[in-house]
Amino acid sequence: MGAGMVSELHHRAITIGSHLRLVGVYDVATEVAERRACDWGCRAYPTLGHGLEDPEVEAVFVLAPAEIHAEVALACLRAGKHVLVEKPVASCEDVSELEQTARGSGLVCMPGHNYAYQPEFRSVLRLVKEGSLGKVRAAWLTYVVRHPESVARAYGSVLEEVMVHHTYLALALFGSPNELYAGCMEPAWREHSAEDQAWMTWHYHKGLSVHHFATFAVADRTSNPWLFSVKVLGESGSASYNWHDSVFERALGTLAFAVPAYEDSYIYEHDAFALAMAGDQGAIVSPLADAREAARVLQLAREASERGASVRVVPEP
Ligand SMILES: NC(=O)c1ccc[n+]([C@@H]2O[C@H](COP(=O)([O-])OP(=O)(O)OC[C@H]3O[C@@H](n4cnc5c(N)ncnc54)[C@H](O)[C@@H]3O)[C@@H](O)[C@H]2O)c1
Repeated sequence: MGAGMVSELHHRAITIGSHLRLVGVYDVATEVAERRACDWGCRAYPTLGHGLEDPEVEAVFVLAPAEIHAEVALACLRAGKHVLVEKPVASCEDVSELEQTARGSGLVCMPGHNYAYQPEFRSVLRLVKEGSLGKVRAAWLTYVVRHPESVARAYGSVLEEVMVHHTYLALALFGSPNELYAGCMEPAWREHSAEDQAWMTWHYHKGLSVHHFATFAVADRTSNPWLFSVKVLGESGSASYNWHDSVFERALGTLAFAVPAYEDSYIYEHDAFALAMAGDQGAIVSPLADAREAARVLQLAREASERGASVRVVPEP
């Protein structure tokens, strides 16, 4: 549901992976759905309702713009379909409703938190959780991918659209911070009004700080470039990974070049989704609870950025 840029990455992953089969597509732009259906050898539904009535459809990927994620995901759950919802899933309140509806129906509703399924991330997560790095004192999550203004415009703000990835990863690694600082840069686009760069620093009691940065404005052409990178420093060990380890020339989805670590994250995400559909909810590394907390933390980050002051993150009751 929604057959734009990100659907190309999901389609590639379905084709490579072994658990899912594409039955059909729906897009409000009929010509888009028909072109995809022709290219991908599947049905084009004239309405979402037609897709939901198709008995062959067991699950729906909600890949439309964020504003309608909750409404569509709820309709799918109420029609008895499992759902994978792209990031950012929805507002805090809407994610709560999705959680309740999914729980009540026994269906899977999984956030499209694809970065959490990369094997490199899961390895860092394990090292942190099992304590191999000792007490973790500092971490960095950095996203440096130059986007043309036309693509950036499709997304809106870097803070909510990109740093949701940073946020759910940091929540999985360390939980919610106690306090955060954030800033959004005045954009240098020609017309688009949203920020092109943003940062957050999260503080935890007992000496951990987590530093987040994202930019659409520049690429890193240095000898050891960032693309998306994670670094965690503990008192007895450190861990890091960087998407730049493999890159090649081929445009797909949102990027003008291919990044296997990124593209393959969708394959691992689908594997987890299929396992969850088969009853193993533990396969979901970054569940709806993290999508709800990510929405809350990013709302506080927006507030901190606008006020130019730090914000205390009081745990939810
Ligand atoms: N996980 C990731 O790394 C990642 C990467 C890119 C985009 N995304 C997310 O995926 C979602 C879609 O992004 P995109 O890049 O594909 O955007 P896009 O603008 O390329 O595509 C969105 C598609 O949804 C369709 N659409 C809009 N309203 C609709 C409606 N009411 N019913 C049916 N279809 C509708 C549009 O016609 C369009 O084809 C966004 O939430 C975005 O943040 C995630």
